[in-house]
Amino acid sequence: MMHKALLITNIKSLIQTEENPRLMVCGRDMSSVTKTDDAFLFIENGLISDFGPMDNIRQGRFRYEDAAAAVINATDKFVFPSFCDSHTHIVYAGSREAEFSDKIRGLSYEEIARRGGGILNSSKKLHETSEVELFNQSLERVNEIISLGTGAVEIKSGYGLNLGDELKMLRVIRRIKEVSPIEVKATFLGAHAVPDVYMQRRESYVDLIINEMIPVIASEELAEYIDVFCDRGFFTVEDTERILMAGIKYGLVPKLHANELDYSGGVQAGVKYNALSVDHLECTGDEEISTLAGSDTMPTLLPGSALFLGLPDPPARKMIDAGLPVALASDYNPGSSPSGNMKLIMSLGCIRLKMLPEEVINAVTINSAYAMGISETHGSIARGKVANVFITKEIPSYAFLPYAFGSNLIETVILKGKVF
Ligand code: NIG
Ligand code: FE
Repeated sequence: MMHKALLITNIKSLIQTEENPRLMVCGRDMSSVTKTDDAFLFIENGLISDFGPMDNIRQGRFRYEDAAAAVINATDKFVFPSFCDSHTHIVYAGSREAEFSDKIRGLSYEEIARRGGGILNSSKKLHETSEVELFNQSLERVNEIISLGTGAVEIKSGYGLNLGDELKMLRVIRRIKEVSPIEVKATFLGAHAVPDVYMQRRESYVDLIINEMIPVIASEELAEYIDVFCDRGFFTVEDTERILMAGIKYGLVPKLHANELDYSGGVQAGVKYNALSVDHLECTGDEEISTLAGSDTMPTLLPGSALFLGLPDPPARKMIDAGLPVALASDYNPGSSPSGNMKLIMSLGCIRLKMLPEEVINAVTINSAYAMGISETHGSIARGKVANVFITKEIPSYAFLPYAFGSNLIETVILKGKVF
C-alpha cells in the first residue's frame, strides 16, 4: 500500500524519540531510552515529519488527520524505530546443517573449517549457484528479516573468495538494494577465509585481494566498507593492515571481524585504521577496552554466533561500565548464526550479556545504525529521519520485547513510510 502521508495515533509509547539526534549512545547513557507516551507519529514522503503527545491532535492543535491518506490506531501498542542490523552475511547459497550436527557431536568451529566445512563449504556452494538463484535465496532472507522488524542491513561478501564470485555476491547485494525497501550497506570481505588453492600461500591471496579485487570493486562502486576476518587461523594483523590500507586508498571504510577466537590484535588494528566498527569481541580484555575508549570505532557484539558456537560471551557489561558504546547485530550467516532475528538478539543481549532492556534497545537501533554509517538518517525517531518503524502487538511495556524471547510481537512494519 502506498501512502503519501500516514498518521499513527494513540501510541502507548513511541520509543527512541529525539529532539536533538545523537550519532551514538555511550556508557551510562545507554541505560535510558527516550520515549514519548500516549503519542502520535506523522510520516510524510517516507520521512518522519512530526511526533509528540496525542493531546496536540485530540485538542485540534495539529490537524494531521486531515492531511493523512491513512490513519493507524495503535492503542495499547508500542512504536519502535526499525532494527538496524549492522553485521550480516545474508547473501549465501544453501545451508550447513550437516555441520550443525558435527558441532553437536563436539567438533569446534575451527575443526569443522579444517575438514573443508565452514566458510569454504559455503564458498563451494556459492560457486555452483547461479547469480539469479543466489539472489532469490537471499531475497527470501531479506523479506524474512523485514517481517521481523529490521529496516536496515549491512551485507558482506566473503563466500566468493575469487574475483568472479566476490563480484557475483556484490552484484546480488546491489540488486537487493535496488528492489527492496530495506536500507542496504555493502561490505567487501574478500579476506573471510583463505581459499583452497592458496592454502599454503596466504600472502599471495592477500596480494590478489589488494591488487585485483579491491580496484575493480571500488571502481564499480560495489562496496562502501571493507572487512577482514582478523583472527587465529584466518588472517594476521599484518595481512589486515595491508588490506585495510589498500581499501582506504580506494575510499573503502574499515569494519572488522576481530577477537572472536583469540586476543588477535584485531581490535587494535581496527582502531588504528579508524574502523567504523570492530565486531565479535568475545576475546576482549582491559587492553582492548582502553584502546576502544576515546576512538570513533563502535564495538559490535554478535551474541547469536557466541550462542550458536558455544563461545565465551564478550564482556558487554565491562565495556559499558567503562563508558563505551555497544552495538548488537545478528551476524546472520549459515555457519555461526543462522538467524537474523534482531528481537532474539535483544533477548540474548539481556540474558547472556547482562545488558538492560534499555541498553539493548540502544544497541540494536542508534548504535547499530552508527556501526553501519547511517545514524544521521536511521536508528531513532527524529524529525527528518527515514520513516522505518514497527508497531508491536499489544504489550505491557517495552521491556516485554526482549523478555518474551520466543514470541513474535511485531505486528506492522513500515519502511520508508510504506506499510507492509
Ligand atoms: O561472522 N567469523 C567469521 N565469519 C562468520 C562465519 C561465517 C561462516 O561460518 O560461514 C562469522 O561468524
Ligand atoms: Fe560475521
